[in-house]
Amino acid sequence: MTSRERFLAALACQPLDRPPVWLMRQAGRYLPEYRAMKEKHSFVEMVRTPELATEVTLQPLRRFPLDAAIIFSDILVIPEALGQPYRFKETGGIEMEYALRSSEQISRLRSKGVHQRLDYVAQALARTRSELGNATALLGFCGTPWTLGSYMTQGGSPTESPAILELFQKDRPLFNQLMGILTSACIDYLKMQIDAGADAVQLFDSWASLSPDKDYGEASLRWVQEIIEALPSSFPVILFAKGKAHQRKALVQTGARVISYDWSVNLAQERKLVPASIAVQGNLDPEILTMDQETTQMRTLELLESMRGHAGYIFNLGHGLTPKAKVENVQTLVETVCNFK
Ligand code: CP3
Repeated sequence: MTSRERFLAALACQPLDRPPVWLMRQAGRYLPEYRAMKEKHSFVEMVRTPELATEVTLQPLRRFPLDAAIIFSDILVIPEALGQPYRFKETGGIEMEYALRSSEQISRLRSKGVHQRLDYVAQALARTRSELGNATALLGFCGTPWTLGSYMTQGGSPTESPAILELFQKDRPLFNQLMGILTSACIDYLKMQIDAGADAVQLFDSWASLSPDKDYGEASLRWVQEIIEALPSSFPVILFAKGKAHQRKALVQTGARVISYDWSVNLAQERKLVPASIAVQGNLDPEILTMDQETTQMRTLELLESMRGHAGYIFNLGHGLTPKAKVENVQTLVETVCNFK
């Protein structure tokens, strides 16, 4: 069975001898070969250049026998394509060129032709697929309208009193206008990724927890559902709604095929609570990869054991790899999953 077949079987909730494994931020500062590329190119330049994006995507695959590759890009390419550029600060974090606040600014967003301006991502996907071959799964991704809107209205990473929540509470028509623009852009962009060869796409609602529980459906999930409904029927969508695992019923109702969990939940318990036709993904604490190989192996095995016998499971971290992750720990994690029987 190839890695790609294993990945697709997990998505279809078929029983497997071991789960497939992939990690978010497979690319990133923990890899010396990525740091070497960053000496020569800025983050945004690497994202925008298909040859470079392909190279960064493939770097971790050359080291570790991962079952899926996630395309090197960023969720913030959508704001950029709409006319609000971003940059990655070397001290960490993200900065947008301005904060989007007024109705004039929102009306000025260039909502037509998003996928043409993001054609470099389609090229990177096609190029990665041809270099990767057919044996490994390839994932595309996108931020949810709520999470994208969080960055856009803040002008960078959201703070404790997030601008997006203020917009949601104080001017619902304008909030809905912005979400409508972002929802169409996401649909356009994800269809393009599917046409370019993605086997599945992940939607990141990384800032889900900025929304109060009672509002989460209106603030975020209704737009997620609209996106999923607009994609080819039964195309697999993975939904990562950080901090909202307890809203499982609402998450499942979006039509997502896989729910991806952060490390705050007991995954085996969650597996029993979501319908058997929905797969689950997660959820090792990324901090463990900053520790040592024994701890990494032990905690990986613990999670694998807890999920033994459950079909529809994809091994993953509860969030992305951090710059402090150690290469040897990533190696241990991937080997431990691949050798699990
Ligand atoms: O995982 C992969 O390798 C695929 C590519 C990928 C990146 N960003 C590249 C990246 C993916 C899937 C993302 C998603 C993304 N980007 C999210 C959603 C997931 C999450 O983290 O919750 C968000 C919120 C962003 C926005 C973003 N991009 C932030 C907040 C940061 C800064 C993180 C930090 O550590 O300071 C980035 C930068 C970024 N995006 C890096 C990578 C590899 C790190 C770049 C570097 O260190 O050189």
